[in-house]
Amino acid sequence: MSINDQQTEAVKASNEKTCFIKTYGCQMNVYDSQRMEEALAAAGYRPVAAAEDADMVILNTCHIREKAAEKVYSELGRLKPLKQQNKDMVIGVAGCVAQAEGAEIIARAPVVDMVFGPQTFQQLPAMLDEIDDRRARGDKPKLVRTDFPAAEKFEALQAIARKPITRSPSAFVTVQEGCDKFCTFCVVPYTRGEEVSRARADIIAEARALVADGVSEITLLGQNVNAWEHEGIRLDGLLTQLGEIEGLARLRFTTSHPRDMDAALIAAHGENEKLMPYLHLPVQSGSDAILKAMNRKHSAADYIELTRKFRAARPDLALSSDFIVGFPGETDADFAATMALVEEVNYAQAFSFKYSPRPGTPAADAADQVDEAVKAARLARLQGLLNAQQVAFNNAQKGRVLPVLFDKPSKSGDQMSGRSPYLQPVHVPFEVLGGRDATALRGRILPVEITGAHANSLSGVLAI
Ligand code: 5AD
Ligand code: SF4
Repeated sequence: MSINDQQTEAVKASNEKTCFIKTYGCQMNVYDSQRMEEALAAAGYRPVAAAEDADMVILNTCHIREKAAEKVYSELGRLKPLKQQNKDMVIGVAGCVAQAEGAEIIARAPVVDMVFGPQTFQQLPAMLDEIDDRRARGDKPKLVRTDFPAAEKFEALQAIARKPITRSPSAFVTVQEGCDKFCTFCVVPYTRGEEVSRARADIIAEARALVADGVSEITLLGQNVNAWEHEGIRLDGLLTQLGEIEGLARLRFTTSHPRDMDAALIAAHGENEKLMPYLHLPVQSGSDAILKAMNRKHSAADYIELTRKFRAARPDLALSSDFIVGFPGETDADFAATMALVEEVNYAQAFSFKYSPRPGTPAADAADQVDEAVKAARLARLQGLLNAQQVAFNNAQKGRVLPVLFDKPSKSGDQMSGRSPYLQPVHVPFEVLGGRDATALRGRILPVEITGAHANSLSGVLAI
């Protein structure tokens, strides 16, 4: 019996209620799922490792591309027989599919009891009470909550006690939600609402509590994290204040929009010692015509200039990006401009996608949609180039000594894993730990001599 099975049995025996949350999509959803789990713990629900063992199952969903949204319906199909066995089970759909499709989800999948958007999960315990009350009266309640009280969510986050950190010395803290940019391909402004910044003092308090719990790396999250602003302070100022927290060794932030970059945040990369030399800065396309049609409000040259400024402030900065190929109207020449931008910038890592028309977004209605086969061929070429750059970046680390924040044993169970400053996973085999206890390394930042480079990770030996 695994530890998870034993925990599940123990929970069943104690007659507590149990919950299982499955998370799709971005880091914001990962953060929200953790907060939901904590809110549910306060309401008497213990997390279990499988839907089969849960009284309540929540799917925290992503709507960014069609494939991501469709996964939710196949998962709901798998949950149906479980609910037939356990009539008391509550099934909830949360996140961006919930926000975008609302009551339609219940029409398509009647197994669902409640639908709630990303800004309303703090109402979860109250929703569950309502379901209990109404079921007790013989009703079959279906709850749909998809309004946008983002400020209320941020207030509620303060009230949710965070679990002592047992998972990782690296934690996320949401500082900003929503998007006002309305890129013509993107659902986020509709599913996450307008840009809202969380209060500075609340962020600092959450960070302090995490550090007191053993966290040494914090990644600030926001759909437009560099639009964060509160009491006249912008992100560089927040990073300075967070950098003053003793015991906090590393700071990161994601995702930034090129339009919201300012000189102070660029300079911070050369001045704030805790800020890691890694920046995720999506460009989406290298063609000015496509960038205009996407409503990105910057040119390819603006973006390249921005990366030059960052590298002037922090010469070893590793850059990452997002790309979309096959946006409506994209010609061979437009695609060639994207390849040229990638050649020019040289990325350490990147994400790339075929354009996926999203209902309700302007580009979905454009007449000049690109053929799927053309999209697939362009994606393969782009990914070939991006992968080659990533491999070259990883290879360049061989022979260097990098500070690694150790986290946990790798899945294979015979090596300890951590992250380099450039966010690469770094594995150190147990046999070369020099007799050190692997788990005692967790949370420590130690020098590692890099001896091996792979497509998605590095390996090495402790250099102490
Ligand atoms: N089709 C394909 N990719 C998309 N993204 C956002 N919307 C779409 C879409 N409709 C990508 C963008 C964004 C990342 C999170 O997802 O590259 O930066
Ligand atoms: Fe979507 Fe553009 Fe906003 Fe990013 S900036 S969340 S791509 S609308």
